[in-house]
Amino acid sequence: GPLVDTVRAEVAHAATLRGGEAAPGRLTLALLGAVPDDAPEPVLAAIDAAAGAGLGEPHGDGLGEPRGVGLGDPREAAADEASSTLGDEGFVIVRSGTPQGPTTTILAGTGHGLLHGWFHLVREGALAQGGPGAQGARGPEGTSTSTAPGTSSHERGELSVEVHSPAHDLRVLDHWDNVSVHPVMGQVERGYSGGSLFYDDGSLRPDLGKVRQYARLLAASGVNRVALNNVNVGRREAELLTTHLDDVVALADAFRPYGVRVHLSVSFASPVVLGGLATADPADPGVQAWWAQAASAVYAAVPDFGGFVVKADSEGQPGPFSYGRDHADGANMLARALAPHGGTVHWRAFVYDHHQDWRDRSTDRARAAYDHFTPLDGRFDDNVVLQVKLGPIDFQVREPLSPVVLAMPQTRVAVEVQVTQEYTGQQKHVAYLAPQWTDALQARPWGDEGPAVSDVTSGRIRGLDAAAARTEAAASGTKDSGAGAPRTAGGGLAAVSNVGDDVFWTGHPFAQANLYAFGRLAWDPTLTAEQILDEWVALTFGDAPAELRSTVRNLLSGSLDVYEQYTAPLGVGFMVSPTRHHYGPDVDGYEYTAWGTYHFADRDGVGVDRTRATGTGFAGLFPPELAQTYESLDTCPDELLLFLHHVPYSHVLHSGKTVVQHIYDTHFAGVERVEEMLTAWEKVAPLADPDLAARVTERLAEQHRSAVEWRDQINTYFFRKSGVADERGRRIY
Ligand code: GCU
Repeated sequence: GPLVDTVRAEVAHAATLRGGEAAPGRLTLALLGAVPDDAPEPVLAAIDAAAGAGLGEPHGDGLGEPRGVGLGDPREAAADEASSTLGDEGFVIVRSGTPQGPTTTILAGTGHGLLHGWFHLVREGALAQGGPGAQGARGPEGTSTSTAPGTSSHERGELSVEVHSPAHDLRVLDHWDNVSVHPVMGQVERGYSGGSLFYDDGSLRPDLGKVRQYARLLAASGVNRVALNNVNVGRREAELLTTHLDDVVALADAFRPYGVRVHLSVSFASPVVLGGLATADPADPGVQAWWAQAASAVYAAVPDFGGFVVKADSEGQPGPFSYGRDHADGANMLARALAPHGGTVHWRAFVYDHHQDWRDRSTDRARAAYDHFTPLDGRFDDNVVLQVKLGPIDFQVREPLSPVVLAMPQTRVAVEVQVTQEYTGQQKHVAYLAPQWTDALQARPWGDEGPAVSDVTSGRIRGLDAAAARTEAAASGTKDSGAGAPRTAGGGLAAVSNVGDDVFWTGHPFAQANLYAFGRLAWDPTLTAEQILDEWVALTFGDAPAELRSTVRNLLSGSLDVYEQYTAPLGVGFMVSPTRHHYGPDVDGYEYTAWGTYHFADRDGVGVDRTRATGTGFAGLFPPELAQTYESLDTCPDELLLFLHHVPYSHVLHSGKTVVQHIYDTHFAGVERVEEMLTAWEKVAPLADPDLAARVTERLAEQHRSAVEWRDQINTYFFRKSGVADERGRRIY
C-alpha cells in the first residue's frame, strides 16, 4: 500500500543523508501478514512479543508462550493475537546481534505501523540501529525507553524487544484556517504563523508541496488526523462539504501518504445554508436525509475521510437549541450520517452564554459545559466524541481541569488543548506548553490510587464509573487501574494547530516544540515534558554545538512558569486586551463585558468565589476529594486560588506571602527571568543559523517589552486598588 511505499522512500532518504556511508546496522522491516514460515528469529520473536503484550495477564517473561504450544496452528494464533495488539498503528522493535552484525527489526501489522516504527528509530538517532541496548543513544540529552500503557520492553538473551502502540487512536490537530480571509480574524483565526498552509485568500493553494512536508512532520510527531477548517464556519468554508469537495480531495491526497486522515468542521445549519431546506432541525427526516447524502458524497470522494468537527450553539454558531433539541439529538443525527462509512463526530463542549450581563452573579461560565452536557451522558452514539477544552473557561495559562472530563463515564471524551498560543504569548513569547498538558493528563483526580485523566481520554476506564475504577485500582494494588481492563474506544486528544506558511512553520521557531509535544503526548501521555523537550532539542538542533542545545533547552524548560509570573495572577485568568486580539495586558478589559470572564477586584480583594458554600458551586463539580481540596482555603493550591476564591489582598498563601506581595514579587521576578533569557540567548545566538537567530532575537525583544508592560500594569493596578506598598519598595507607578 501507499504507506509501505512511504516507508521505503523514507529509508532510502536516510541512506541518501548518510551520503554513501554504511548504515550502523542491518534493518529488517516486516509486515505481519507477509511473514514467511522460515522468517528470521527476530521477526518471530517480534510476533511472540506482540502476541504476549496483547493479553491481560502477561505470559511468563512477557514474550508470549513458546511457539508450538497450544491447539491449532500456533503461528497463526500468535499472528492474530499480535495483529490485534498492534492495531493499525502499533509496531515492535527487536534489536539483536547476528553474525552479520547488529540488526534492528521493525514488525507491524500495517504500513502505517511500520512508518511509526521507522520514525521511532529516527527519533532515537542513527545509533538506534546498533543492536541490543542501543536505544536512546542520541546525544547527551538522551531518550529513554517509555513505559507507556501501550509500550512494553523485554530483554531475552541476545534480543531486546519493545512493543509500542498509541494510547489514543484519535490524535487530531484542528486548523482554524479560513478559506476566505475573514475581515477580523484573517486567514487563520488565532494564527500567529503567517497565512494558511492550505488556502490563500479564497481558494486552495495550487501547490500543496508544503502540505506534504507537513504531513510528514505530523506523522513523525504522532498526529494522525487533521481538521481542515475553522470551527467558526463561514459560507465559503461550509462549501468544502459540497461544491468545494475537490479541495478536500486534494488535501486528503497530500496527507494520505503519511497516514494522516482529514476531517471537516461543518456548520450545523448546512441543510439550510447549502441545501436550501427550510430547517436544520435534527429530528426532521429531510434534514437527516440531507446529511446522509452529503456524507455519502464525501466518502465517495475521500474513502478514508475522518469525520466532522462541530461547534454548535457556541459563540453565535448555529445548533440544535434553535429547534428545541439538545446536543445529543444534534450530535447523533450527524453521527448516524457518518456511521455507515466509519466516520466520527467531534462535538465540541464549548457551550456557554456569551451574552451574559456582568451584573449577574448567578451565572458562572466555568459551570456551563458541565451543566449542559453531563445530563446527556449515555445518550451519545458510539461514533460521537465529546471534545472538551482542557480548562473550564478558555485556554488560560492556568485553570483547573474541566470537570466535564471526569463526569461522563458513558461518553467518549476528548481533551482539547490550544497549541496555538492565543492566551500564552502568541508565538512572540517563549512558552513551552507541555508541562500544562502533562500535569493535566497525568493527574489522578479520584485520588492517588485511582486512574489518571489520560485513562479517560484513552478509553481505558470508559464505562466504569469513577468509584468502580478506583475500587478496581485498590483491589489490584496498582495505580494503573486501566492496565488489565479491555480497551474501549476513547475520545483521544485534540489541539488547535499553531502552524502556518511561516518559514519556521510556527512564527517563533521554539513554538515548534509545542506541536511536537502535542503529537508525542497524544501517542503516549505518560511521557514527561522534559523527556519530550530533550527529544525535540536533539531532533531539531542535533548537529549544533552542545552550548546552543543546552541553552535552547533551558530557555524552553520553565518558560510557561515565567509567562504565568508576569501575566494574570493565581489562576484568575484573562486581564488581556479584548480589542487587540487578546495580546497584552488590560486588567479591566473584560470586566464589564458579556463574556463571563471577570476577576471582581475591588479595594479589599480579588478573585471569583466558586465554592459550594458561598459561591457558584463550581468547586463541587469534581470528584469528592478534589472538590474538598478546592473548596477549602486551607487546601486550595496557591496557583488556582483566585480561580476558586475571592480573598482579601492580605490573605496569606501557602508560600507564606500575602496575595498582593505575591503579585508584586512574581511580576518583578517574571521580567527578571526574561532578562536572563535574553542574556543567555545573546551568548549562543552566533552559533545558530543566522535567520533563526534573528527571528528568536526579535521575538525575545518583544517578549521583554511586553513582559515589562504586563508587570507595570498589573502591579500598578493592584497597588492603586489595595493601597498596599511593596515590601521591598520597588518602583510601582
Ligand atoms: C476562543 C477563541 C475563539 C474561538 C473559540 C473556540 O474563544 O478566542 O477564536 O473561536 O475559542 O474555541 O471556539
